[in-house]
Amino acid sequence: MASNARGHFSSKIGFIMAAAGSAVGLGNVWGFPTKAASNGGAAFLVIYLVMVFLLAFPMLVAELTIGRHGQANPISSLKSIWTKNRTLAGGFGLIAIVTASFILSFYSILAGWLVSYAIAPTIDLAGFHQASNWLVDFGVSRNLIFTVIFSLLTILVVLRGVADGIERWSTRLMPLLFVLFVVMILYICTQDGAMEGLKMYLVPDLSQLHGGLFVDAMGQAFFSLSLGCGSMMVYGSYLKKDVNLPKIAAQVASIDTGVAFSAGLLILPAMYVAKNNGVDIFTESGALKSSGDLVFKVLPAMFETMGNIGVLLGFGFFVLMVIAALTSSISMLEVPVSCAQDELGWNRAKATWLIGGLILLISIVICLNFGRLFGLVADVTTVYMQPLLGVAWAILVGWIWNRNKLLNEIKQGYPEIEQGFFWKIWPWYVRFICPVAIIMVFAYPLI
Ligand code: PHE
Repeated sequence: MASNARGHFSSKIGFIMAAAGSAVGLGNVWGFPTKAASNGGAAFLVIYLVMVFLLAFPMLVAELTIGRHGQANPISSLKSIWTKNRTLAGGFGLIAIVTASFILSFYSILAGWLVSYAIAPTIDLAGFHQASNWLVDFGVSRNLIFTVIFSLLTILVVLRGVADGIERWSTRLMPLLFVLFVVMILYICTQDGAMEGLKMYLVPDLSQLHGGLFVDAMGQAFFSLSLGCGSMMVYGSYLKKDVNLPKIAAQVASIDTGVAFSAGLLILPAMYVAKNNGVDIFTESGALKSSGDLVFKVLPAMFETMGNIGVLLGFGFFVLMVIAALTSSISMLEVPVSCAQDELGWNRAKATWLIGGLILLISIVICLNFGRLFGLVADVTTVYMQPLLGVAWAILVGWIWNRNKLLNEIKQGYPEIEQGFFWKIWPWYVRFICPVAIIMVFAYPLI
């Protein structure tokens, strides 16, 4: 797709579903509940909500606007707003590409687990107990095989391009996932022990607050809204000019936060229900045994209590989660691929296979050195790089981009913008508050 024949989302709902598809993924269903469970539940929830609304949402508007203005890959889009220093602008674009690629490299491993968990119960039912144990036990060979499978799925969808690949998948399947969530939440709340989890999740214990919590919650908010690494910039570039950016950003942020909140509503009660049923989740002192695979322990334990329906529901849930992860991973791979297409003149197939293959190689290296590399790559990219690139976008939009040009860009889909509350606050907010607040969150635990 050369820039003169750029793919566009064919409908507004298609875009919302695709952008929400990028946002909703393992960050919501694995990252958020795991962090909430290990950080005092409600205390984390409160800080997270503050981070989403006060920092991530304004930055989502900024990132979508940069992309829609450029109508091009992140490198060109950034250059188009920083015309005086195109080299540096391109350099930031490059850092975003590298960040998106490394996020994808660890994300594919996690998402591979979803694939193996999706098929394990069926294999077990068919009588292949050993095989099904292999599928759910942590092991290098399992990790490698399913990482390759998930990476190939990502590559295949990205090969097909915007409207055909990305939009079609997201619009059809995202709503189904929401429905399944509601059913599962209703079920878990009828089980013994659920109330203890609900209480932990909804009644804040302020003694749990500490500086590190703010850094974690901010990283989680940026990760969950796919910010800082160019994904939302690319998706913004596929948006038509008549779209109201602040409104669409608010819709995407609300859907994403709604799903994260619901995932907590499911996982925290499910933890205590599982404990009631004898699954060892907590140490004697009441701390979580291991957090990384918490969700992968708790959910199958819940499905098991449901009998045969549980097998079906478990299968449906993990398949839908694979798809949710896929709508996120494609938005990561789309960042380097769109850049290679426009900047290097590669065609989509070449860009997708070469870059997708290279990222898969990185995933394989991480799989082979899991203990040393997985957490490191995940933390550096999501806790540090995403918010720090957010600071860069805030400075670009707030200080470097000509205010009138910025206004004109947003105005095209929101003609009455100057009369509204949004325009009175947002430009100043992005200029001063966002960069300072992000840096302060980092500085606080150091002080
Ligand atoms: N937001 C996605 C999730 O919650 C992850 C993601 C990060 C997607 C960065 C794109 C870019 O799973």
